[in-house]
Amino acid sequence: MAKKIVSDLKVKDKKVLIRVDFNVPMKNGVITDDTRIRAALPTIQYVIDNGGKAIVFSHLGRVKCADDVKKNDIAPVAKRLEELINKPVKFVNATRGKELEDAAKELKSGEILMFQNTRYEDYDAALDKETKKESKNDPELGKYWASLGDVFVNDAFGTAHRAAASNVGIASNVSETAAGFLLEKEIKFIGGAVDNPVRPYVAILGGSKVSDKIGVIEALLEKADKVLVGGAMMFTFLKAEGYNVGASRCEEQEFVDLAKNLLAKANGKIVLPVDAMVNKAFEDTKGTAKAVDGFAADDMGLDIGPKTLEVFAKELAGAKTVVWNGPMGVFEMKNYAAGTVGVCDLLAKLTKEGASTIIGGGDSAAAAEQLGYASKVSHISTGGGASLEYLEGKELPGIKCVDDK
Ligand code: 3PG
Repeated sequence: MAKKIVSDLKVKDKKVLIRVDFNVPMKNGVITDDTRIRAALPTIQYVIDNGGKAIVFSHLGRVKCADDVKKNDIAPVAKRLEELINKPVKFVNATRGKELEDAAKELKSGEILMFQNTRYEDYDAALDKETKKESKNDPELGKYWASLGDVFVNDAFGTAHRAAASNVGIASNVSETAAGFLLEKEIKFIGGAVDNPVRPYVAILGGSKVSDKIGVIEALLEKADKVLVGGAMMFTFLKAEGYNVGASRCEEQEFVDLAKNLLAKANGKIVLPVDAMVNKAFEDTKGTAKAVDGFAADDMGLDIGPKTLEVFAKELAGAKTVVWNGPMGVFEMKNYAAGTVGVCDLLAKLTKEGASTIIGGGDSAAAAEQLGYASKVSHISTGGGASLEYLEGKELPGIKCVDDK
């Protein structure tokens, strides 16, 4: 069933509660990547352009103690939002109380209010105790936040795998809940690949560990036509196939055994690299391409090799749906970025040919953004854990709580 979208709501003169995921990376109070803020702009813009009063909020980091409160002040994010949307954003440095309630009441049509990190509610400063009211969906908290507005728009895909007071809690206490345009896009692309992929459907998996992605590998083995494996997780698979992986990063025996089982179940669907770029140390110096059956004991694989990219290109030719999660190598090092860049190029080409190309959040999304491919693929997810759980085929509470049309 299709979900209600913000454009289905009457927002004029209404206080519209908008849950976004502004859990952005920060260093010493400075935002290092504002992609998630940019991604939520269309929804906020729509609400104010249509005469709504936007009350915007998000979590930031994890808040378990007084130190976390200091570290995760969301004020710089409100400032960045103000710059990006080019409108004043009134910021209330509280998650409840008179100042917030008055600010919400006094908000005028077309104005934006943002309040402090929702996860400040996970910690009680007076008791110096972790309470997890936000993260464990405390019923009083969801009801309280719902009382600040008239309707609710959930645009926080990155948090959709969590049932919190600020998504599910609010949704159960307001008359109407709709998805924002970002959540709509995530549902269209990732949900589309899960429920109804146009075939051939090829998945590309990378990143460091098989153990982080067991659920998603199993799900993709059921649904996709081929699963191409790169990243350090390739070595767990290669070891399971009996190869000597030298000094490459590889998981413990338990996961090598698991990889063996996955390979046995895969019926030829899993495609492993045939070569890798190796170095003698984990450093950004020039490497050598080596076939996977030619590793010396001190060879450390840091990227897939050029022959593997040729194999992947053949497997991807003609694909109509492609999902990619996890970099192919240590792309942050310029000598070991070619595999990840090569996969970005393959996806860009397929997108031009009309395929639906989707990059799951986290490191591969960051890689595609950094390498300049953001506009060359169909969709880059803003969710890390959320996109993995969605790809696994799980029902996400942050999507379930949105009204059906
Ligand atoms: C994310 O960054 O994946 C989301 O914002 C969720 O954050 P969390 O893992 O701290 O719940």
